[in-house]
Amino acid sequence: MMLSIKDLVSGYGRLKILYNINLSLSQGEILSIVGPNGAGKTTLLNSITGFAKIFNGKILYNENDITGEKPEKMPLIGISYVPQMFNVFPSLTVEENLLVAGEILRSRELLRQSLEEVYTIFPILRERRNQKAGTLSGGERQMLAIARGLVQRPKYCF
Ligand SMILES: Nc1ncnc2c1ncn2[C@@H]1O[C@H](COP(=O)(O)OP(=O)(O)OP(=O)(O)O)[C@@H](O)[C@H]1O
Ligand SMILES: [Mg+2]
Repeated sequence: MMLSIKDLVSGYGRLKILYNINLSLSQGEILSIVGPNGAGKTTLLNSITGFAKIFNGKILYNENDITGEKPEKMPLIGISYVPQMFNVFPSLTVEENLLVAGEILRSRELLRQSLEEVYTIFPILRERRNQKAGTLSGGERQMLAIARGLVQRPKYCF
């Protein structure tokens, strides 16, 4: 399983932000992208996940070209995205947030198992499962956002 980005030029509208980005990433590999505010880290992730405009280059996933694929397709092919902001539904409870994200899984049993796994990683979320996400602390909210990504059992989680 391999994700690779070749000569990516991307941005928003007519504005180009990233120029000629190349990288590749195996399943299970952890890659940190570091840079100052406004450097384009989020734009890189937005480019993979279908939120940015791609002017040139290719994004390959297992040899398949997924360049410009729609955001809603991502979890179905094994890519979860934890956005930097607006990453939980504040009016839903912790568990409802997880259930909505896990809706893409093929069975109830798998969903139950995934919930159990993310509650094991983040025990505070189990304790607060009936609490509205909008009332979580900042750090708890980020845990929930990451858990929403992981509960989908992705091959890659950004
Ligand atoms: N929707 C947009 N339309 C136009 N310009 C944008 C848009 N989103 C981001 N930008 C610009 O693109 C550049 C890169 O932004 P990006 O959000 O990718 O940075 P970042 O590296 O994630 O920063 P941070 O560390 O602050 O999260 C910035 O100059 C930003 O102002
Ligand atoms: Mg960012």
